[in-house]
Amino acid sequence: MARDERDLEPTGGGAEVLVIGGGVIGLAVAWRAAQRGLRVALVDPAPGGGAAQVAAGMLAPVTELQYGEEPLLRLGMASNARYAEFTAELTALTGLDTGYRATGTLAVALDADDKAELAELHAFHRRLGLDSNWLTGREARRLEPMLAPGVRGALHVADDHQVDPRRLSAALLRAAELAGVRVHRAEAVELVVEADRARGVRLADGTVLGADRVVLAAGCRSHLLPGLPPGVLPAVRPVKGQILRLRIPGPYAPFLSRNVRAVVRGGHLYLVPRADGELVVGATTEEQGYDTTVTAGGVYELLRDAHELVPGITELPLVETSAGLRPGSPDNAPLLGPTALPGLVAATGHYRNGVLLTPVTGDLLAEQLADGTLPELAAPFSPDRFVSPDRSALRSLA
Ligand code: GLY
Repeated sequence: MARDERDLEPTGGGAEVLVIGGGVIGLAVAWRAAQRGLRVALVDPAPGGGAAQVAAGMLAPVTELQYGEEPLLRLGMASNARYAEFTAELTALTGLDTGYRATGTLAVALDADDKAELAELHAFHRRLGLDSNWLTGREARRLEPMLAPGVRGALHVADDHQVDPRRLSAALLRAAELAGVRVHRAEAVELVVEADRARGVRLADGTVLGADRVVLAAGCRSHLLPGLPPGVLPAVRPVKGQILRLRIPGPYAPFLSRNVRAVVRGGHLYLVPRADGELVVGATTEEQGYDTTVTAGGVYELLRDAHELVPGITELPLVETSAGLRPGSPDNAPLLGPTALPGLVAATGHYRNGVLLTPVTGDLLAEQLADGTLPELAAPFSPDRFVSPDRSALRSLA
């Protein structure tokens, strides 16, 4: 144990901000807060890991839009608009590429039902003034010749792009360290609360790291942190996603030039082609607790549906199968900002949108931590929406 760690008291002497969780969200908050001049520490046994290690990295606020989620759309659009600059800054600071590519996305209909659903989505896009263009099946195949001949129609969304979440995580970790974030490769086993205020965390070896503010960014394990008083944070449920990685053998003609997605048998299917020849196919959506087993059924369904969409996919080497856990809040929107426990700030519950929302979450939370004011854009996502005034219960928003 380092002497200065052992000597830290939960008040004073420690960090101004202590982030629990070194996934992309925790790292972005820590990095941005350190850039604002705050003294920042981060705790995670494996920083740079988390759900982003499995995620495909589609940046798709428009093609993943759900009815009734307009505030989330605003947040997603704001984050998407920051992505090019955010990743350019990371690369300039660290020398690491993030795999950000402005490819656009094609959302494809395979049959008459899909076509009707996609036409509804298009009408919704138009009502909201979003950039989304209807293509015939023939026009879609002209853009992506590997699509199945039977494709009925598609939406072309020019501004839904992609990033490589594994590269992004590595760049964020390096940038955070370069900005002075003190990274503790250890497990936070307890939130330290004194006089009804979060004061730091206890690590597995008994060390206490003190801090003025604690940011909880531990994904689907956020609400499980021992010491967290009841009524402060709703459960952040794990939503399993299985995903495949294939490789386009080089030297290769582009197999796909942009993200391609479809709804097949009610499930979201997407293919994300990277510049280095990796092709990611995702993802299942399964609610069955903290299980990350890759199943034959999950792989079969993804390959079956992807084959319907892009028949040539079965020729490609399958190089990896994996499963991760999306952190889902009760309303599937993130929990951002101060909680009912003074000193404790949430940055969790990003569900399907963690990678997309990384830049905007880092910026909004750093502003709140530095200036004490949570920007208006984050207001709909206050964790308070689930908390009764006396903190005696968590509300359901159903
Ligand atoms: N955003 C894609 C997914 O969660 O599967």
